Amino acid sequence: MKIEFGAPTQPDTGAHVLGVFEDGVLTPSAEELDGRLNGALRRAIGASRFTGKARQMLDVLAPAGLPVDRVVLAGLGKAAALDQRAAEDLGGAIFGHLAGTGTKRVTVSLDPIDGAPQTAAEIGARLAFGFRLASYRFDLYKTKQKPEDKPALDRLSVMLDGHSAAKKAFAGLDKVADGVFTARDLVSEPANVLYPATLVERAKELSKLGVEIDVLSEKDMRKLGMGALLGVGAGSQHDSYIVVMQWNGGKKGKAPVAFIGKGVTFDTGGISIKPAAGMEDMKWDMGGAAAVVGLMKALAGRKAKVNAVGIIGLAENMPSGTAQRPGDVVKSMSGQTIEVINTDAEGRLILADVLWYTQDRFKPEAMIDLATLTGAIIVALGHNNAGLFATDDALAERLLAAGKASGETLWRMPLDDAYDKQIESDIADMKNVGGRDGGSVTAAQFLKRFCNDVPWAHLDIAGVAWGSKAKPTSPKGGTGFGVRLLDRFVADHYEQ
Ligand code: BES
Ligand code: MN
Ligand code: ZN
Repeated sequence: MKIEFGAPTQPDTGAHVLGVFEDGVLTPSAEELDGRLNGALRRAIGASRFTGKARQMLDVLAPAGLPVDRVVLAGLGKAAALDQRAAEDLGGAIFGHLAGTGTKRVTVSLDPIDGAPQTAAEIGARLAFGFRLASYRFDLYKTKQKPEDKPALDRLSVMLDGHSAAKKAFAGLDKVADGVFTARDLVSEPANVLYPATLVERAKELSKLGVEIDVLSEKDMRKLGMGALLGVGAGSQHDSYIVVMQWNGGKKGKAPVAFIGKGVTFDTGGISIKPAAGMEDMKWDMGGAAAVVGLMKALAGRKAKVNAVGIIGLAENMPSGTAQRPGDVVKSMSGQTIEVINTDAEGRLILADVLWYTQDRFKPEAMIDLATLTGAIIVALGHNNAGLFATDDALAERLLAAGKASGETLWRMPLDDAYDKQIESDIADMKNVGGRDGGSVTAAQFLKRFCNDVPWAHLDIAGVAWGSKAKPTSPKGGTGFGVRLLDRFVADHYEQ
């Protein structure tokens, strides 16, 4: 996809997109073109149900006297509501509208917008960002696609006065989109291709961007006493790993902000095996790790002025003669023992060791983990918000705000010692499940025991890492949830 910004001119090919506000109010460029077309645009609006509502589209094909294939009127909605998110969704909707038409090139005319909360340059950059995010496809394994099955659209030109400011604002967003695409690629890959060792290789590619990579093998983890993580991978033919990704773009010696990801490359449930129906979804049980890799790629790509560390715990949860059993007791790196009542509650076992390792080695300013941790969070919140659990209110507020700004929204859930009774064990320091009631909360209470007073937040992304329906800026499939959210969180609070 080629995306460019330029001064307003008359496009000579492809689709020409012009904005219309709610109630059919033409933008100056649309007004001007309508004049040249002897009122054809107004007539087209009159002949249709197009009102200019946000993301509505109206095609005027083969306009007489113009070199373009089509003029597209794009609904902008109300000027006051045209913020960054609305501009991204508009860009995504433009891609979606034109992807199947055979048009190769689209040119968007943008005017300065009175009363919009953003400058035209910012709207242009965000529109291009949304357009690119919507263009993501994962068709690596489709060998029989004909050209007409794929969008021909491969070029977007955004025309506006002050295009260099838009270009500059887009440069950073383009790197964020790179990170989102990497995260989507990782969750989309099947588990026979993407297992711990191959995910390690993918993460290592970030070294090209200046990210420092460290890999911990099973031998290293054994030395550190990571019995909780190692137990999860015990049944698999594939070795488990931890990958540490450091981006030091901030002040030397300043404590980093740490991002931790659950990376179960396939979750069968282990000996507590899952039912067959829908088990294929468990290839994306590494959505947290994917988001962390994507985030580190985004931060390094745009050279963020922050010290950030990303740490992912990678294992495959399989049943076999070497697998851990229900009732086994494992000892975590923290020294705390865990009775494994259900081998399918494996994410928290991995995170127990990775969280402890992170606070111990990096003394971070804050730790945020992402995990497709519980089915219970889907029961509670569905697919429109990830669950947020936090020990620190200021940290929680920052994350909630970044969620609103990025469109990757969070809903705060409780942490409360009153839930701890549910994870008491008769023979160990705790057990790994707390029963059905409040299942996401008891999982979070479990994780909290491995954070050792470092301000910590946990994002349960089980309901949002995969989309069965397309949204304007994320096609169905892997969403890359967390990359945009945490990039925004870093940009707003941790860069000098
Ligand atoms: N990876 C699953 C959670 C999950 C479920 C993610 C659906 C995405 C979609 C996790 O490892 C799991 O199996 N959790 C169990 C916990 C239970 C055994 C306490 C669950 O939610 O059923
Ligand atoms: Mn599980
Ligand atoms: Zn899992």
